[in-house]
Amino acid sequence: MGKKVVVTGVPGVGKTTVIDQVISGLAAEGVEYQNINFGSCMFDVASNQGIVTSRDDMRKLEQAKQRELQRNAAQFIAKTEGNVLIDTHCTVKTPKGYLAGLPEWVLKELMPDIVVLVETDEDQILMRRLGDESRVRDAEGYRALCEHQQFNRAMAASYAMLTGCTVKIVVNADNLLDRSVEELKEILR
Ligand code: AP5
Repeated sequence: MGKKVVVTGVPGVGKTTVIDQVISGLAAEGVEYQNINFGSCMFDVASNQGIVTSRDDMRKLEQAKQRELQRNAAQFIAKTEGNVLIDTHCTVKTPKGYLAGLPEWVLKELMPDIVVLVETDEDQILMRRLGDESRVRDAEGYRALCEHQQFNRAMAASYAMLTGCTVKIVVNADNLLDRSVEELKEILR
């Protein structure tokens, strides 16, 4: 049985940047992890159905549709063997409020060992979002980002209560990417 590690963080915090370096660094040491992006699993199905053209459209879909896509993605990921790192969200900010990224039926499929929260100062996240022209990020202010990061911690605690997983916070501060990569590698080894 491999480890299942869920890595989360608000959009723009840099979780994908950290994950990419962690996966290649560990592979060089002979520690293999499959890196699965939950949003990509959802997007493959949604784009085949012709209901979205970009991944940034998905959080605006009807709640029932997002739940169906979540369930499909979770069932697909649950079949993966070996060590798996799942790049996803603790909560997704939708026009109707926060949607749990790992509701009960997703958690029961995945049964993660560890949930990681990648965090940093909200000012840094705002600057990273402004600098990333490849994505259609929500225009949010400092307070909204604080609320989202706090809400994610509360949700991670509920995931720990439901599954017995541990919750680890990794800070991905500006110009200290190496430190967050090392910290996450230590957790995954
Ligand atoms: P997803 O694929 O996770 O996209 P995202 O939310 O936009 O997050 P990204 O991975 O693109 O951003 P990131 O925070 O990893 O930042 P990045 O590394 O690019 O999800 C897509 C969609 O799928 C969601 O919107 C949702 O609809 C859906 N979805 C996913 N999971 C779901 C679930 N469980 N339930 C329901 N829906 C779900 O970095 C950003 C910038 O920061 C870059 O420019 C980078 O160079 C810079 N940077 C990174 N680290 C540092 C550092 N230390 N110092 C300076 N700059 C840095």
